[in-house]
Amino acid sequence: MEIITPRSILRNWRSLDAKSLVMHADNTRIAATMRDAFPSPYTMADAERFISMATGTTPHLFLAIEVGGEAAGGIGIHLQDDVKYRSAMIGYWLSESLWGKGIMTDAVRSLLPTAFTRYDIVRLEAGIFSNNPASMRVLEKCGFIREAVHRHAITKNGTLLDEVVYVYFPSER
Ligand SMILES: CC(C)(COP(=O)(O)OP(=O)(O)OC[C@H]1O[C@@H](n2cnc3c(N)ncnc32)[C@H](O)[C@@H]1OP(=O)(O)O)[C@@H](O)C(=O)NCCC(=O)NCCS
Repeated sequence: MEIITPRSILRNWRSLDAKSLVMHADNTRIAATMRDAFPSPYTMADAERFISMATGTTPHLFLAIEVGGEAAGGIGIHLQDDVKYRSAMIGYWLSESLWGKGIMTDAVRSLLPTAFTRYDIVRLEAGIFSNNPASMRVLEKCGFIREAVHRHAITKNGTLLDEVVYVYFPSER
């Protein structure tokens, strides 16, 4: 899959991306607002494991965000299951060197049509740590609405945080 956005290309991960993945992802400021499944430090072995999973058989979608010819971030759609099978979660991160240029807003906005045509979902949500206003702003710019605050739902690096749930319903756009 390849989606051209105004500031990046969203495309499948490749094994050759491992080096640039480590270079951009090995950053405690990125890991600080991600789930603990995002490694920190981010080693070559982590990168190879991730790329192997992302390019293998998976119902979920994992795309690299390519900027200047390099995989400099990631964006993904994680399908829920059981009675939540028509819901999915969106997650993303970007190299710190590229923050504040509108790249993630473009990426999320450009992925929305694909998420709703590729999957039989009616709801796309994101759970943002309460100390991450930049991510909330990205979602608001893309038409997500702030739906709920799950109080003290997150403990990240020993700090208790709220989780702010944002949701996108294409039928309401
Ligand atoms: C969150 C993240 C993805 C944003 O990517 P980005 O490409 O810099 O985002 P954009 O440039 O498209 O938009 C950022 C917006 O947040 C705003 N912003 C940045 N820091 C902010 C802050 N401290 N408070 C309020 N708004 C802030 C910017 O001004 C911009 O809004 P604007 O266009 O209205 O001015 C990036 O910072 C990142 O990867 N962070 C670490 C990982 C992460 O948090 N992932 C999301 C987990 S849910």
